[in-house]
Formats: sequence, structure tokens, C-alpha cells
Amino acid sequence: MSTVTASAHREHRVTVRSLAQRKSRGEPFTMLTAYDFSFARIFDAAGIDLLLVGDSVGNVVQGVETTLPVTLDELIYHTRMVVRGARRSLVVADMPFGSYQVGPEDAVRSAIRFVKEAGAQAVKLEGGSLVAESIERIVRAQVPVMGHVGLTPQSVNAMGGYRVQGRGDEGRAQVIEDARAVQEAGAFAVVLEGIPADLGREITAELQIPTIGIGAGPACDGQVLVMHDMLGLGDSPPSFVKQYAQLGELASDAAKAFAEEVVNRKFPDAMHSYR
Ligand code: KIV
Repeated sequence: MSTVTASAHREHRVTVRSLAQRKSRGEPFTMLTAYDFSFARIFDAAGIDLLLVGDSVGNVVQGVETTLPVTLDELIYHTRMVVRGARRSLVVADMPFGSYQVGPEDAVRSAIRFVKEAGAQAVKLEGGSLVAESIERIVRAQVPVMGHVGLTPQSVNAMGGYRVQGRGDEGRAQVIEDARAVQEAGAFAVVLEGIPADLGREITAELQIPTIGIGAGPACDGQVLVMHDMLGLGDSPPSFVKQYAQLGELASDAAKAFAEEVVNRKFPDAMHSYR
């Protein structure tokens, strides 16, 4: 079997249409979170298909416990930076807690701000049947929407913690119903987070829109990871995460080497000084 490189798909800008084609051809695709220009540029050039400006910015950049305090203004600020670094990747902005829960009108207003003020090409919001009307209204305003069902971190208090969803007959039926509701409402894709792998497979087989898994098994049409988790930049990540690099260790070693050279007057040397 030949190995397909991510760069094989690198030529054209990714669109909601091209993702639908990828699903129908059975070609997996990739999404990573990004929160700034530098990493957006690196991931874009590496052939990552979608960049999600996640509200996980709260956990991995701001250092807060949950995603709940992240504001719409903060995510618009980060989305603007990511958009500047993305030439080919499709940029999806995450609607933070409080920016769509009041009702559909509020949801449309927030989504439009992401497009107008930050240049996002799509928005993502958490929930199934409960937010279906909001998804419908945003789509009617011509803003593509990505759904997010299963473990939805903005519901941490209602769920009583971060728990795998979709276990047992009732839990399973709920996640399936939510995924169907998101598709029915007009979303172009749906994130499946924290569900058993066989449920991820079942939903992916049933839905016409692409599924993007995070802790949802290998059968999803695409996979997403939080960049800090997969680059080894944070504390110990959840068990479904694979770390592809240990940037935290590299950064620590570099900082120690810099400090050692400064205190021993080795840096700056002549080569790193102006004449
Ligand atoms: O905010 C985020 O990073 C997300 C991913 C976990 C999908 O929503």
C-alpha cells in the first residue's frame, strides 16, 4: 500500500466543498488548532487542511481551567492572527461560551463578527439538537458552520466533568441524535469528541457530512488535535493524544543554554554583536 503525504493535497485552498469531496472519495483530512500567525503559517505550509481557532486557547494559552471564561473579542483577536498565516488551510473560528447560548439572533451576530472582523471562513459551535436552530440561522446568513457533539467542553458543569459520552444505549442514542440534528440544520462538518470508537464509526458511516474525530477513533473522515497536546507543549495530555514532538523540552533546553551562556559571558560574542 502506498503512503499518501499531506502535501499531496496542498495545491488548492481548502473549501467546504472540497471537504465534502474528500469524504465521498474516502480521503482522510486533517485539522489542528492554531492561535497565532507563526503556527498558522507552519501548519498551513505543512499541508494541514483546517485550522481551528479553538476556545481551548483558554486552557493552553491563557492558563485558565476551563474554556468558559474565553470571550468573543479574545477569539476574534486570535482568529485575525491565524487568518493572516493561512494561505491554503480553511480557518474555522470557535464560538465561545456565551456567544450563542442566548439564542439564534445572538448566534448569527457573533458568527458575522468572526467573518467581518477576523476573516474566518467558518465557525464552530458545540451542541446538537439544542443549537440546531442557531446553526440553521447562521447557515442562512451564508456562514458555513461546523458542529461539535459528544464531549462538549463548554458543558463541563452540566456534564459533571470531562467524561466520555455515548456509552450505554441512552448515551449512544443521544450522540447519534445530536449528530443527525447538526447535519439536518445545514452544518458542513461535525466534530465528534470523546466517544467510543465504534460509535464514531457508526456516525461517520451514517452522515453525509464529514466527521472530524478527537478521541473518537480511527474511522472518522478527519482527525483534529490541540496543537499544544500533539507538540508536547503542555502538561500530560489525554490518553487519545499522540505526541509527535517534544517542543516543551526543546524550549526548556534552549532557555537553559541561553541562561548558562549569559551568566558565563559567552553570549553575545563578537559574531552576535554589531561593529
Ligand atoms: O477548542 C478546541 O480546541 C476544540 C477542539 C478540541 C475540537 O474545540
